[in-house]
Amino acid sequence: MKKIVAYLTIFVILSVVNSEKCDGIYVNNKFHRKDILSINIDRPYQLSYDKHRHRVYFSYNIGKEEEDRFNIAYIEKGNTAHKIKDNIENGFAIAIDNKNYKIYFGGSLGIYEESLKKENETKKIIEGFNVWDMFIKEKLHFINYPQQRLYKCENEELGVKAVRQRHIHEKIYQYAIDGDENSYITNRTGLYMIKNGTSDRIFIKGINNFRCIEVDNNGVVYFCGQHGIYVINKEDYTLEKIAEIRNIFGLTFDHENNFIYSNPHEIVKLLAGDCK
Ligand SMILES: *[C@@H]1O[C@H](CO)[C@@H](O)[C@H](O)[C@H]1NC(C)=O
Ligand SMILES: *[C@@H]1O[C@H](CO)[C@@H](O)[C@H](O)[C@H]1NC(C)=O
Ligand SMILES: *[C@@H]1O[C@H](CO)[C@@H](O)[C@H](O)[C@H]1NC(C)=O
Repeated sequence: MKKIVAYLTIFVILSVVNSEKCDGIYVNNKFHRKDILSINIDRPYQLSYDKHRHRVYFSYNIGKEEEDRFNIAYIEKGNTAHKIKDNIENGFAIAIDNKNYKIYFGGSLGIYEESLKKENETKKIIEGFNVWDMFIKEKLHFINYPQQRLYKCENEELGVKAVRQRHIHEKIYQYAIDGDENSYITNRTGLYMIKNGTSDRIFIKGINNFRCIEVDNNGVVYFCGQHGIYVINKEDYTLEKIAEIRNIFGLTFDHENNFIYSNPHEIVKLLAGDCK
């Protein structure tokens, strides 16, 4: 009897030590260890990865209690402390065009552009829009607030023009296009897929509250619900949970297509395999 108790005690201690050392999450039934990139950030949201400087950009809450005020910041490789991007008024949305070395910041007064090769040469390109979310597919797309309409940015001789995308007639929260050029929208009812070349809205069953839609480096689209990451099963148009993550806020992918997610106070990278 004593032996069993002793054995169980050791077993419990070992598993506690082991789980502390090797905290992880299953993604597609495969163990991934957690690499904590940063802690003590208030609700990091809208993650975006700069593949050239290896930075994770995000916005986070600076308002008290219910007040919604945001700042944009980033963390650099090997440094858990974040740096604030302080010249964007109420900065909330971020989009990075790694192919063309551009980063876009959206705030309550418009959209600002910077080169990924030059520090701090911020240029305002869109004026008079409160920007809620941004997405890049060749061109920059954004959703304004509180109207929740979709716009695409077109380069014109006199500058950048925001062109309303009327084929998306809904008031939407999020928008994305995957590698097969299918579009996805979310609204209060839930998630809809619009296949390339069609205008039918296919309702995707599963959950109807989304924190983000992100497309990985291979063009696969992922959806963040409140407590996990989902993909679409295209046979029956339902969502399948591929990872259980309590209170996920944002998601992005690094240059090696590793998942980087946030919860209300930290940013975490997931690396396939056990701890070493
Ligand atoms: C860019 O701005 C940040 C934040 O204001 C500052 O910390 C950094 O030193 C600046 N970098 C350059 C190259 O001016
Ligand atoms: C969301 O969009 C779908 C597809 O257009 C529409 O049927 C539905 O009524 C919309 N929901 C709301 C709350 O507007
Ligand atoms: C998407 O649809 C457009 C218009 O029908 C077409 O020109 C384009 O080639 C399609 N893209 C893909 C990846 O199928």
